[in-house]
Amino acid sequence: MSDRKKVTLPALFKKVADGQPITMLTCYDFPTAHFQEEAGIDMILVGDSLGMTMLGYETTLPVTMEDMIRHAQAVRRGAPTAWLIGDMPYMSYQPSVETAIRSAGRFMAEAGCDAIKLEGGAEMADRVAGILAAGIPTMGHLGLTPQSATALGGFRVQGRGARQAKKIVDDAKALEKAGVYAILLEMVPDRLCQLITERAKDCFIISLGAGPHAHGQLLIYHDMFGLYPRFKPRMAKVFGDAGKVILDGLKAYAREVGEKAFPQPENWFGMPDEEYEELLRLLG
Ligand code: KIV
Repeated sequence: MSDRKKVTLPALFKKVADGQPITMLTCYDFPTAHFQEEAGIDMILVGDSLGMTMLGYETTLPVTMEDMIRHAQAVRRGAPTAWLIGDMPYMSYQPSVETAIRSAGRFMAEAGCDAIKLEGGAEMADRVAGILAAGIPTMGHLGLTPQSATALGGFRVQGRGARQAKKIVDDAKALEKAGVYAILLEMVPDRLCQLITERAKDCFIISLGAGPHAHGQLLIYHDMFGLYPRFKPRMAKVFGDAGKVILDGLKAYAREVGEKAFPQPENWFGMPDEEYEELLRLLG
């Protein structure tokens, strides 16, 4: 286990002040959380993308609070010191401020999260304020917000036109004013991300496919290791083809079992001769 001190908000803001980029990844399970902790990843997002990456849904919309809590608990067990963020799933915060506070509270009380993330801009400022009033650090999410992908015209770059870009800048300001500690910008042009990053005073900016100028970077874990079979987003870099390693291993297993090359003596357990003789005697 790593001997890192618990990652805190002051520690994250210090990194920002020192000009050191923040590292952030999605994570959904215990063993991956263990590796991310060992690698010293600063912030871990238990994203509702788990609906697609782990549960095989076509979108994130069917994901429930129960799904999120179960995965967040597993991640916390594997990554005790990372800054852990629970991603508010569809309809866990949209209906009302009270719904939002109750859902956010579950991430803290039941899963040991440090913070929550929700999608949306100025229209979510009252949810952010309510959650913050309950003492829960909150991260915003602008640009491509997957829970509204239908309304946004699909999974595509947001803010390429000046008017839409201005709305994203205004939304970032509204979220900052409401008190978010950070904003994730997903799939917006690099120059727009740079502009918002330069204007951020009381919060820091994380980029997912939004260029190098943010205070930190986020990748979806499954994209960076070739583990999502349906597609690979252009913005994702594959840092290791774990999907290929796993597939090759599975094929080798099937071949070795078929050829009776597996198992070998080191893969099974013997029994003392006298015990076996006694067993045969007992069986008559
Ligand atoms: O659910 C998730 O993983 C996210 C990312 C797309 C940022 O919200």
